[in-house]
Formats: sequence, structure tokens, C-alpha cells
Amino acid sequence: MKLRASASTKHERDQRRLTDVASSRPIIEGIITNRDYDRRLAAQVRTGFVGGEQPFSDPRPYLQITQPLNASGAGYAEIGMLCSNYERIRRATGGQTTKIFWGVGNGDSEMRMLMLEAEAKKRISTAAIDSQRFFLEQWWGSLVNLALNSEVLVEAICYNRFFEDIRKEDLPFGRRSHVVLGNTIGNYPNQAEIFGILSRCVRKDESLVLGVQLRTRRPEVILSAYMNRFYEQMVGLVKERIGSRGRIVWDYEKSDNSVRAYVEGIVAFYSKKYEIEEVIGLGKAAGFENALAVTDPTKNNALLVFRRCSA
Ligand SMILES: C[S@@+](CC[C@H](N)C(=O)[O-])C[C@H]1O[C@@H](n2cnc3c(N)ncnc32)[C@H](O)[C@@H]1O
Repeated sequence: MKLRASASTKHERDQRRLTDVASSRPIIEGIITNRDYDRRLAAQVRTGFVGGEQPFSDPRPYLQITQPLNASGAGYAEIGMLCSNYERIRRATGGQTTKIFWGVGNGDSEMRMLMLEAEAKKRISTAAIDSQRFFLEQWWGSLVNLALNSEVLVEAICYNRFFEDIRKEDLPFGRRSHVVLGNTIGNYPNQAEIFGILSRCVRKDESLVLGVQLRTRRPEVILSAYMNRFYEQMVGLVKERIGSRGRIVWDYEKSDNSVRAYVEGIVAFYSKKYEIEEVIGLGKAAGFENALAVTDPTKNNALLVFRRCSA
């Protein structure tokens, strides 16, 4: 008699990697060290653009920015949009799904999303990807709090990896929604690159939720939100790693509606602002169909839900 080599399917094995947060230490696959940040930085400096992960290579300046009463208020706008539109967002994403969070940062908006899910669910499955390990460790603690306070079974896994290194087979299976909040896609000067990464990892019929910042007619207002000591500290991390003693020069580049911080002519911080139609077009070019777009009352921020229409 022939024995089957493996009693469990790939799907079952993937689901097993999701771990009950309340009864486990943090499960964080992969490890990114300072040397990894440096290696990427050396290659990025040659292109003239520093990667979006670099200002987060030390978590402290970012955590200061996102404390209550933060400089831009964009995080709160996103939470507001999630709360007042959640039923529509849930329907557009296709109901109950495993949430895959790309870039959790302090996890405020991401946690709000799970709290809204927890109101109607007995079980939540989720994965988070971030190059900054500290954010993932904190995130796991937030998940434990959610599980203990809501009596929901929370199953999770984290990946301390660069987005660029994630393959769709790495992530837990089941019905998935990929969620990229806090204008993280705006940190990519090459939009085709980030949409390409997402397109590679989102399967047909899965959804993609993007939180973006919108362009306004008054660039000086956007720019002023960055010209403070907290963002100077974030860019300072890059400056230090480059070994520069030069001044940080902030600018708003009209050609692509981006806030930029230059250090010795190199773009050490980049944050693109969008038109809603532009995001819909970028999604379409990458194989996503727009299902929903909502804005906050100031019209400076938007949440967009897409469905992947092709394999
Ligand atoms: C702009 S913050 C947004 C954080 C959070 N989503 C929010 O709404 O506040 C971007 C996050 O993505 C992470 N990140 C940026 N580039 C990355 C990359 N290439 N690979 C992995 N993580 C990255 C950063 O460490 C940071 O936590």
C-alpha cells in the first residue's frame, strides 16, 4: 500500500503558521539588521533616491511624530474614514478576509480596522510585513490586547522583510485583503514599482485597500507639516547613515506632487500626494479594478478599495 507523502495540503500548512497570539510569543519570520539597511542605502544613493524604509531604520522619530496631536493628522483622518465607512469597506473587500498589512508602523489605523472586524467576528486572521522589527513586536502586543479584550481568537504571523522580497506563497492563504495604509505607497518615487510588488502578491479576486494622501492646491500647507524637528530627525537618520553633515532642504516638487527632503542633492525623504483618479489609474494599470473610494472631510486623504481582476 502506498502512503501519501504529506497528509496536509499546502493550504492547511499555511493556515497552521498563523498562531493564536494569546498563547504564543511573537512569531516574526525573517530578520532585518542595520547592515541590511546600509546595504540597500548604498545602492539607493547611487540612484539619487533613498528608499521609503530608511527614515524608519530607527523607530523613535516616527513614533514621536505619530503621538497624539501629530504633525499632519493624516493618521487620524484615516481612522475617521475607516470608522465612518467600515460596512462599505467590508463589502467592497469581499466580507471576512485574512488581513495582510503592508507596513504597520505604530499600527493605529490597522488596529482600528481589526477592532471594527472584531465587533462581528469570533475569529480574526492577520499578517503584517515591516522592515522595522520593533514595529512588529509592538504590533504583536496590540494583537494580544485585542484578543484579551474582545474574546476574539486572533491568529497572526509577522514578516520582518522588505516588501520587495515578499512572494505570494510566503503569505497565509485563505481569502485575503491586502492593506497598505498611511500613504506608504507614496514613499515610492517609482509608482510602477510598488504597484508591481502588490500586483505580484495579490491573487485574482482578492482585494487591496490603499490609504493615501491627496494633493491640495496649497503645497506650502503640505510642506509646512514636514518642516519640524520630528521629520528632521527621521531624515537625520538617513543623513547619519550617508555620513553627511550637510543641511536638509525641503521642497515640494510640482511635477509629481511630492514632498522631498534633499541631503547633498540626494532625495532622502519622498512622499507623493495623489489625485484619486491617478490612484485608480495606477491600480488599473497593475490589474486592479476600483470598487470604492472615500475621502475625509478635509479632502486631504482617501481610502480606496480595489479588486484584483486578472490572474
Ligand atoms: C508611512 S509608514 C505607515 C505606517 C502605518 N501603516 C500608518 O498608517 O501609520 C510606512 C511603514 O512601512 C514600512 N516600510 C517602508 N518601506 C518598506 C519596505 N520597503 N519594506 C518593508 N517595510 C517598509 C516602514 O517601516 C513603516 O512602518
